[in-house]
Amino acid sequence: MRIDIISLFPEFVAQCAGFGVVGRAQERGLLSLHGWNPRDHAEGGYRRVDDRPFGGGPGMVMMIDPLLATLDAMQADDAAPAHVIYLSPQGKALTQARARTLAAMPRLALLCGRYEGVDERLIEARVDEEISIGDYVLSGGELAAAVVVDAVARLQDGALNDAESAAQDSFEDGLLDCPHYTKPVAHALGAVPEVLLSGHHGEIARWRRQQSLLRTAQRRPDLLESAPLGAADMAFLRE
Ligand code: ADE
Repeated sequence: MRIDIISLFPEFVAQCAGFGVVGRAQERGLLSLHGWNPRDHAEGGYRRVDDRPFGGGPGMVMMIDPLLATLDAMQADDAAPAHVIYLSPQGKALTQARARTLAAMPRLALLCGRYEGVDERLIEARVDEEISIGDYVLSGGELAAAVVVDAVARLQDGALNDAESAAQDSFEDGLLDCPHYTKPVAHALGAVPEVLLSGHHGEIARWRRQQSLLRTAQRRPDLLESAPLGAADMAFLRE
């Protein structure tokens, strides 16, 4: 897939995506990133991209025209229409299910705001969806864009090696992941749960499922409301 980054600091997002699974996805030709800086499409000697908000108040607002010119240049660079996402705390929360939907799209454009944000008219005219990565405020959309790039890159077919299978990730079944252990078996910090050493695949799967259920109930009970649970899960949670 192709992802276009529209930002005053596009190199920053590219740097975040340059190593690990995401870097490898690029090397394998599964993902191509393209940066676009609105300052390159701004008019005048100062190449101004922001101005004071109408109605007063602190901060600056990103202006329509440099962003329109950037989005047009970005779209003209490749025939595939880009699904344009604006990263902001006002967006809908990013979930694993949403990441899966986005990962199946051929082309995304991630619009990163700075300052107080982007002129609302640009958002209404050119943005397909607004996404937040959580209920906190960042200084700009770049880190949020890097999060979206990572979440969708690892879901591209062939991005993960077998051992990293995405199917077992947290949230893929609507629950938090179970705990994991590796060598050594005996350590001053504690022992590995016996069942994991038993070689009994059925028992191990059951233990892992129960640990996921326990953790989710303790840490994120809200997730249990929408997780698909079977009769055995319900019985375990009632114990
Ligand atoms: N920009 C600033 N804060 C953000 C957030 N929480 N999510 C997405 N984009 C943002």
